[in-house]
Amino acid sequence: MKRTHYCNDLSAKNVGQTVLLQGWASRVRDTKGANFIVLRDRSGIVQVTVEASNSSYPVSTEVRSEFVLEVEGLVQVREENNQTRQYATGEIEIIPTRLEILSTAKPVPFPVDGTPLTASEEVRMRYRYLDLRREPLREALKLRHKVVSSIYNFLDAEGFISVETPMLTKSTPEGARDYLVPSRTNPGEFYALPQSPQLFKQLLMIANFDKYFQIARCFRDEDLRADRQPDFTQLDIEMSFVEVDDVLELNERLIQDVFKKTLDVDIPIPFPRLPYADAMNRFGSDKPDQRFGLEFADASGILKDSGFGVFKSALEAGGVVKVLVAPAELTRKQIEALEFTAKQNGAKGLAWAKVAGGSLEGGISKFLSPIEMTGLLEITGALANSTLLFGADSWDTAVKALGAVRVALRDELKLITADSPRFHFSWVVDFPLLEFDPERSAYTFMHHPFTSPTIKDLPKFGTPEMGSMKARAYDLVLNGFEVGGGSIRIHQPDVQEKMFNAIGFSTQEARERFGFFMDALEYGTPPHGGIAWGIDRMVAVMAGADSIRDVIAFPKNARGADIMADAPSVVDSKQLEDLHIKLSEKSIV
Ligand code: AMO
Ligand code: AMP
Repeated sequence: MKRTHYCNDLSAKNVGQTVLLQGWASRVRDTKGANFIVLRDRSGIVQVTVEASNSSYPVSTEVRSEFVLEVEGLVQVREENNQTRQYATGEIEIIPTRLEILSTAKPVPFPVDGTPLTASEEVRMRYRYLDLRREPLREALKLRHKVVSSIYNFLDAEGFISVETPMLTKSTPEGARDYLVPSRTNPGEFYALPQSPQLFKQLLMIANFDKYFQIARCFRDEDLRADRQPDFTQLDIEMSFVEVDDVLELNERLIQDVFKKTLDVDIPIPFPRLPYADAMNRFGSDKPDQRFGLEFADASGILKDSGFGVFKSALEAGGVVKVLVAPAELTRKQIEALEFTAKQNGAKGLAWAKVAGGSLEGGISKFLSPIEMTGLLEITGALANSTLLFGADSWDTAVKALGAVRVALRDELKLITADSPRFHFSWVVDFPLLEFDPERSAYTFMHHPFTSPTIKDLPKFGTPEMGSMKARAYDLVLNGFEVGGGSIRIHQPDVQEKMFNAIGFSTQEARERFGFFMDALEYGTPPHGGIAWGIDRMVAVMAGADSIRDVIAFPKNARGADIMADAPSVVDSKQLEDLHIKLSEKSIV
């Protein structure tokens, strides 16, 4: 290795030294009498100044943007000008004694030197290796590396053992579709890529590993969003002989350590714990963004005799009227956009009224009596120039729709300010164990089928009260994102069987799918529990990125495709034949 320094490592303290740098010509500027080359490597940039009198001048005139260069030269103090202070190494420049072009480059399809981008996402994805030369993406991946390495160090010191689990395996239910891989050697049979290492980490507890972790790739075939990729990474943790508190406490200390070591940010612990029912009732979300307020009030009591048909019929049907205060006098256009959001989230509309002079006006205020108005102002504490927004429906629909409106208001009114906490962590706890699926008209698991109910709810299995069972599960929430989730597991074979029965699997079906696991439970299973973090989501929030794509080196686009590598793609018929696969007519393109 000939290189003596990375560009960004140089400063005034190196003045007078001869250094050897290797990198890319990020910017090339020639003025009469000198060429200025901004050299870039993974650390940052430094200016190379080649005056006409310099022996490297003739080579320097051939350098174009993104050429790969080797520069040997003297570090010198740079003459102060208005560019000097714009970057970390601005105080100095390199005067080459030797300049070599190691590689030429075609003109790049979009600038990678920090000038504003106009290229479409599609073009940037096609040339991802060029996009990764840009500072924000490069720094996000460096942050990701630091996060993962500090996780390793912390968990290693705590006695955790990292174990790899298989990629070619059997389905692990986490609520998504599986990616299947056909077996050539077993005609007609398929592996599934893991949705998570759930069963294997539990088997490792049965195998007495006691404390396990893995930076694990997971695969889920589901609709993509800014915070979802088909192929993503978890920090997966499992521990034996633990209670909920042990898992949460370990994770709080781990997060505190990771944020301190990587961002030098102090995260206060313990994190607040919010029961699921409260999270829904107050914020309309199981992952509430608590960097700002805007909690709902319940206006059902005040409006019980309402003359407004919408409220009356919702309450008569056993529903609720929830109210949210938008801290601004919203325009008609803003209200319409929020109403659209509410409707997209199941509501029939979004009633509103403006607060003015201790009373309400506009919108549905004409249907409200003075007593109802006073009551609404009292329970909401709404100030003048704000707008009340109402959700009237079944509890579930009303809170979820207003929850979406609350998040839309955060963005519309820019409620996150420089004074807001940069990172707000909380735990959501006391989740229901089961969820009723009207399509199948049966219960389904809310987390996954290995999650333990609370001990006191155990007798409810198989009774009409099954729907009210609570899980020993927890989600980790950061700034409105679900960045982790886990639970204490079922460790008794008979309880596991009851759980399978509760979600509509007969004992025989359960044995067909999970027989190996049910067998294992019978050979001395310690009580155990754990968690998995979405590493991509955690790092995206830490990096202030809009999408997890910005913290993944080679992500898929919104259609699940890698347009650079052209995946997925058709394969030749010989390969399909080997795999014993025949395509249906309609899938042949
Ligand atoms: P869960 O399904 O909640 O739990 O997943 C854990 C965390 O993984 C992240 N995540 C995703 N990130 C990016 N793209 C996706 N498609 C995606 N899906 C999930 C989320 C989520 O909180 N086995 C259990 C964990 C356990 O019980 O210990 C599990 O996988 O941040
Ligand atoms: P309508 O009676 O349909 O003209 O609605 C009057 C107002 O009530 C409009 O602002 C609607 O958006 C709103 N609205 C209608 N249904 C609901 C509902 N279920 N919850 C809250 N507001 C509603």
